[in-house]
Amino acid sequence: MLLEGKIALVTGGSRGIGKAIAAAFAREGATTVICGRKQETLDDVAAELDGNVIPRACHVGKPDELARWVEGVTRDFGPADILVNNAATNVAQGPCLSVDDAQFDKMIEVNLKSAFRLVRLVAPGMCARGSGSIINIASISGLKPQFEGLMYSATKAALIMMTRCYALELGPKGVRVNAIAPGLVQTVLSEYYWKDPARQAAFLGKTPIKRIAQPEEIAEVALLLAGDRCPYLTGEVITVDGGSTLV
Ligand SMILES: NC(=O)c1ccc[n+]([C@@H]2O[C@H](COP(=O)([O-])OP(=O)(O)OC[C@H]3O[C@@H](n4cnc5c(N)ncnc54)[C@H](OP(=O)(O)O)[C@@H]3O)[C@@H](O)[C@H]2O)c1
Repeated sequence: MLLEGKIALVTGGSRGIGKAIAAAFAREGATTVICGRKQETLDDVAAELDGNVIPRACHVGKPDELARWVEGVTRDFGPADILVNNAATNVAQGPCLSVDDAQFDKMIEVNLKSAFRLVRLVAPGMCARGSGSIINIASISGLKPQFEGLMYSATKAALIMMTRCYALELGPKGVRVNAIAPGLVQTVLSEYYWKDPARQAAFLGKTPIKRIAQPEEIAEVALLLAGDRCPYLTGEVITVDGGSTLV
């Protein structure tokens, strides 16, 4: 198994892409700790998935909860070998001039500062042990602007640059840091784009692979980045978008 004996932390593991990543990691032998805001939902996911999935609630926008989450997991299972910063929100969807301060702050806290804080909590241990893999789930909206997605695009673009900065500094200490930039994936977060037939058709019209991605297709790329099969791969942003950014 690709991740035998490894400890993995996956934020936003209660559904969608995070759940698929947790399923893939657990299948490959990792002790996989998932978070989301509701313990009951996480318990159901852990019961549903095969392998060692540990459900532990944590609001990633709250620094004290993040610190307690990492402390508890480290105490009970050992230090993390893999960190996946996946949880995100999009509370600021709409015309750029209507975004208010509260929405701006929430988007930064949940989509960006959570990753910054988790790296600070987890990466020192990885550096001390001389190995680790950090995976940030960005978006093609971080590569090109999303219409009426000011804060979503801004936080994802920043996450991509943070990925490169971390890779530059942590590489000499044995820690690889990469990002995945998915296109349209069929999840709750992206319902607006795929539930409406006209909007879905507009997207697929510009996508060489004529369908929406499933979360498992992103999970397989995360698995590749998490394991030891690509030890020279760091600082990369892997676009998984059916070719939509080619058009
Ligand atoms: N779907 C797409 O088309 C697409 C495309 C590009 C990139 N992405 C990125 O992929 C990642 C996963 O998105 P998804 O599509 O799988 O979304 P999703 O189905 O809405 O799942 C989001 C996950 O994040 C968790 N979450 C949200 N806010 C949280 C918070 N404050 N604290 C802890 N957990 C929180 C949710 O759990 P609870 O609600 O239970 O707390 C849920 O598990 C995100 O980074 C997203 O930006 C998605």
